[in-house]
Amino acid sequence: MTELIKTENLGRHFGEIRAVDGISFSASRGEVLGFLGPNGAGKSTTMKLLTGFLTPSFGTATVGGYDIISQSRQVRSCLGYLPENAPLYGDMEVADFLKFVCEIRKIAPSDRKRAIDTATQRAGLAEVLSQRIETLSKGYRRRVGLAQALVHDPEILILDEPTDGLDPNQKHDVRELISTLAKDKCILLSTHILEEVEEVCSRIVIISRGKIVADGTADELRTRTESHGVVKMRLAGAEAQRLTQSVAAVSGVRDVAVSTANDEVLLQVTPHNGDFSIHGLVERVLAEHCEIRDLSVERGHLDEVFRAITETVDTSGRP
Ligand SMILES: Nc1ncnc2c1ncn2[C@@H]1O[C@H](COP(=O)(O)OP(=O)(O)O)[C@@H](O)[C@H]1O
Ligand SMILES: [Mg+2]
Repeated sequence: MTELIKTENLGRHFGEIRAVDGISFSASRGEVLGFLGPNGAGKSTTMKLLTGFLTPSFGTATVGGYDIISQSRQVRSCLGYLPENAPLYGDMEVADFLKFVCEIRKIAPSDRKRAIDTATQRAGLAEVLSQRIETLSKGYRRRVGLAQALVHDPEILILDEPTDGLDPNQKHDVRELISTLAKDKCILLSTHILEEVEEVCSRIVIISRGKIVADGTADELRTRTESHGVVKMRLAGAEAQRLTQSVAAVSGVRDVAVSTANDEVLLQVTPHNGDFSIHGLVERVLAEHCEIRDLSVERGHLDEVFRAITETVDTSGRP
């Protein structure tokens, strides 16, 4: 896989504030990398470093194979960027604004119509093309920002909270668009919405206080949760105390909790990581002459991971 974004110990300080504090990660074509973190974690600052809007205090990064400091112009031409507060020209009509972006992006005049049509259609802007930007709702402005990031069909997209301000239907559309675009692009998006990363991102980097605190797929991150792998059973005909002792002796079991409801027993088994086998557990339960009425295995929730490794406090004003 070709690495289209690569950072090494990238950092940016604002006086005392270590906004980005030595971040290393990479992303390849076909990947949608989700940058997840609480407010003030350093997501936007990292994106501004990658897109040449800020210079790093230390560390290096390449985008599309170009160095963000010495080849900043090439970097900017190979990426599309949706900033957090996309600077749009309020008194321009949407169509004129996109034409203007085509000029800046040096798209050949003969290709401009097609470029604008494609971006307009992708961002769902057809019905507002002749409207002045300042008269648009927040959701539509966000989509204009998205269209401007897409107009030159860049290989790399850096999207800062792309669904911010959109209603649920619009969020759904933008997520679908991102998934469609992902096939032959490398997309870095930031969000603090967990369902968004689960839905569209192939990999998640969690960032907190300027540092990366986790990097993996949603499934990999879920394995870190307390509830991951917990087995729950609803049983009939069980004798609670005997069942508890019997199940506790199964290899790999860390904890057993039993409660009774009506004539049923609810069994909750927490395994150790490693040598636990659910077959062994089920065999033992059946040997107690119980009827298993329901069985589920918890996958774990991303919000558990998120809460456990980031702080829930708002760090946007952190020193
Ligand atoms: N231009 C700036 N000057 C001073 N501090 C800044 C500036 N930009 C960002 N910060 C600070 O850097 C930290 C990270 O901000 P940011 O990257 O915007 O976080 P996020 O996008 O994850 O919410 C915050 O504490 C923020 O207040
Ligand atoms: Mg931000």
